[in-house]
Amino acid sequence: MAAAMASAFTRNPFIRAIFFSAFCLLLFVYTLRPQTARLQRIEENLEVYAPVHAQKPTDTFQPDCSVNGTNLKSLQERFGLDDKIEYAKRYVRFTRKEIPRKSITKIEDELLPAEFETVDIRNPPKQAECLRPLEVDVPKSPYPETVDASELLFGISTTYGRLHDERIGPMKEWSHWLTDGHGNSNGAGLILRLIDASDDEIEHSKAVMKEMGIDVQVFHSDSQIEMAQRYLSLLPALYDDASRPNRKWLVMCDDDTFFPSMHALLEELGKFDSESELYIGTLSEDVNQVARHGSQAFGGAGVFFSIPLAKRVAADYDACSTPDKLREANTGWGAQGDVLLRKCIYENTDVRLTALNSLWQLDLCTDVSGFYESGGKPLSLHHFKGGMWHTAFPFEISQISHTCGEDCILQRFQTKDNFILTNGYSIAHYPKGIDFNVNQMERTFNSAPSDLGWNMDYAFGPQRQTLIESGKKVSWELKDAIVETDGSVRQFYIRKKDDWRWKETRNGKRMFNTDGVIELIWVP
Ligand SMILES: *[C@@H]1O[C@H](CO)[C@@H](O)[C@H](O)[C@H]1NC(C)=O
Repeated sequence: MAAAMASAFTRNPFIRAIFFSAFCLLLFVYTLRPQTARLQRIEENLEVYAPVHAQKPTDTFQPDCSVNGTNLKSLQERFGLDDKIEYAKRYVRFTRKEIPRKSITKIEDELLPAEFETVDIRNPPKQAECLRPLEVDVPKSPYPETVDASELLFGISTTYGRLHDERIGPMKEWSHWLTDGHGNSNGAGLILRLIDASDDEIEHSKAVMKEMGIDVQVFHSDSQIEMAQRYLSLLPALYDDASRPNRKWLVMCDDDTFFPSMHALLEELGKFDSESELYIGTLSEDVNQVARHGSQAFGGAGVFFSIPLAKRVAADYDACSTPDKLREANTGWGAQGDVLLRKCIYENTDVRLTALNSLWQLDLCTDVSGFYESGGKPLSLHHFKGGMWHTAFPFEISQISHTCGEDCILQRFQTKDNFILTNGYSIAHYPKGIDFNVNQMERTFNSAPSDLGWNMDYAFGPQRQTLIESGKKVSWELKDAIVETDGSVRQFYIRKKDDWRWKETRNGKRMFNTDGVIELIWVP
């Protein structure tokens, strides 16, 4: 992996020198710039402010320009920010319209029409610079609150330790796709198996999730049984559940699988005939993993079984989980549950995988921002809890849907000042301009254990070269999002000065000497 990374980022020293000179020149020009430029820009900004409001005579919206020191201190504690940060706060007013969800929407406006303010978190000012709200149109898409997901029954195996782990515990994420966001079930059921958990641990876990509004049943699972077999046995357990007559789909997934948009997921599933025998899922986007483990649904992306097919797998369970079958399902990395399941279906039925390609296994490492910033509308996400894979905050990413609708999740806006805002994920600035194909994914990530350079092309299309360590990109990434009592959503995007990605060149100089926070407040 390390070798692959090094080769992917190797740059020619001549190009490095050019970048460095360009940076020096830029720095020189910047320091010469008169102080009045900033004031002028603020004045221009205020001028634009008036007409926007004049167009809406009935509009009484007044942005709250105060700086909330409590929020900044909390961010500082959690994300290790400097005392002095570069800060900007902006309202985004969205209008829900009957328009399609585009991959990227150009806005004839600037995202940050003024310079950042330097704010001392220990002694924050009362007021921030009051920018007029940015106005955007968004598609009229449904809210998580209104989904009826009762046709789905999910099955997950994990351990008590993982379930309650502060860093990787999945319950908050589950509450997004299993509840209405207000402590009530959205109708979907969950059968959770806890490996080697005590009765007390099972009762405690059940109580915590019930409190969150998750309709869950928690059972024991025995670590003596091989993992692949435990995985396969989950499907008969889902099939045998008393709620099955009211379900259409039995879904197996991992404890780190996330479904951002339940309406969209149900809409896609609604295109299939749930009365027929169906096995729906997706291959890994990494062709390496398919070559290694075979062509089947990769469980982390979510695997959907119609009831008639689940019935057959349940009937075949004993024959499908013999020691011989487990041996055959060993791809060199131990017996694979996904493989055992595929063999059970393929060897006993004519059913083959129906690919639903907006489900994502995300067998990607390092920095997966290129995927999140690609303008897509993923039906599932996986492997975002760090470790050898990537780190992302899908619960926080998805909070925008509570005010703006599901289509707003990861929707992109390009502004005149060379920013691309990916709603809920990042605010990326391209100081040298946006002169690349925005419809092509940026190849910020690697694959494990080996990276051929093209192993994701069959799923993503060829990707454009990464702008990491090029001085051409910097991004503030979402670390927290809060649904406020008035229905607005407050997002905090953070850029750390020592982020390895924001360098002028590979191993070159940092682009910033200060940590930065951008606060966006989305209001209807
Ligand atoms: C600041 O934010 C905190 C937490 O979000 C909130 O409880 C508090 O009321 C806010 N303070 C002000 C002055 O708005």
